[in-house]
Amino acid sequence: MTASNWNPAQYERFKAEREQPFHDLAALVRQDRPIRRAVDLGCGTGELTRRLHESLGCTETTGVDLSDTMLARAAAFVRQGLRFERSSIEAFAAQAPQGAYDLVFSNAALHWLDDHPALFAKLVRLLAPGGQLAVQMPAMHAFATHTLAAALAREAPFAAALHGYTGQSPVLAPEAYARLLYELGLREASVRLQVYGHELPDRAAVLEWVKGTTLTGYAERLAPDLFERFLKVYAERLLAALPDERPFFFPFKRILLAARKQA
Ligand SMILES: C[S@@+](CC[C@H](N)C(=O)[O-])C[C@H]1O[C@@H](n2cnc3c(N)ncnc32)[C@H](O)[C@@H]1O
Repeated sequence: MTASNWNPAQYERFKAEREQPFHDLAALVRQDRPIRRAVDLGCGTGELTRRLHESLGCTETTGVDLSDTMLARAAAFVRQGLRFERSSIEAFAAQAPQGAYDLVFSNAALHWLDDHPALFAKLVRLLAPGGQLAVQMPAMHAFATHTLAAALAREAPFAAALHGYTGQSPVLAPEAYARLLYELGLREASVRLQVYGHELPDRAAVLEWVKGTTLTGYAERLAPDLFERFLKVYAERLLAALPDERPFFFPFKRILLAARKQA
């Protein structure tokens, strides 16, 4: 994921639905000690980074994202103690000072990165003693939106152009994260799978939703005309697979986790 295809306007079409998990994740952060330095990985437009910074009373918060279009929006939220940095999460995790952060936060971004055991180990190294890790990721890989895209990606002519990419999710089972956090020395862990029941106008709205997220991985790997063909077939199959109900009930699974490094 190069994050180059993020389109803030498309992403924000379902702003209200996407914000609730952010608030639920922020509520998992314990405020029994001051949170001075925080980092928001995959901060997007920075709007929620600003809310995090203000609600937790952080002294210094850094939002990290790779997308120029998302960061262009974030510029409006820069203020005393709140800055944004253009970097991949991988590079930031490798280069940031170890033990420097009281909070490593990431809402709806780490599911774009591979090898979570190695990634989480790097993120835990960024935490100061007593520091907290808080992460929210969609876990929709078994839903039609994802399985149909992956199946189509294996078909001609798309398979050759995608070079084996099928949007495979790196997201683990909740119990695997519980074990991983424990093995990385974190305690006071909360790991949960939550289903957010979104009420959308109709099943076509699901297509608009995934255009802003899941399909970006295909869009950036296919030439525009080939992506248009991909989208057309995908849309037909997706709409045929979903019930024709109004409103459309969209059960969206997410994993929320938070834990603390021992002081
Ligand atoms: C679904 S958006 C979430 C944005 C924000 N956290 C929020 O809750 O609204 C995912 C963000 O992660 C960023 N992203 C994805 N992969 C990334 C990577 N490897 N390094 C840095 N940013 C990445 C994208 O550019 C995008 O802004």
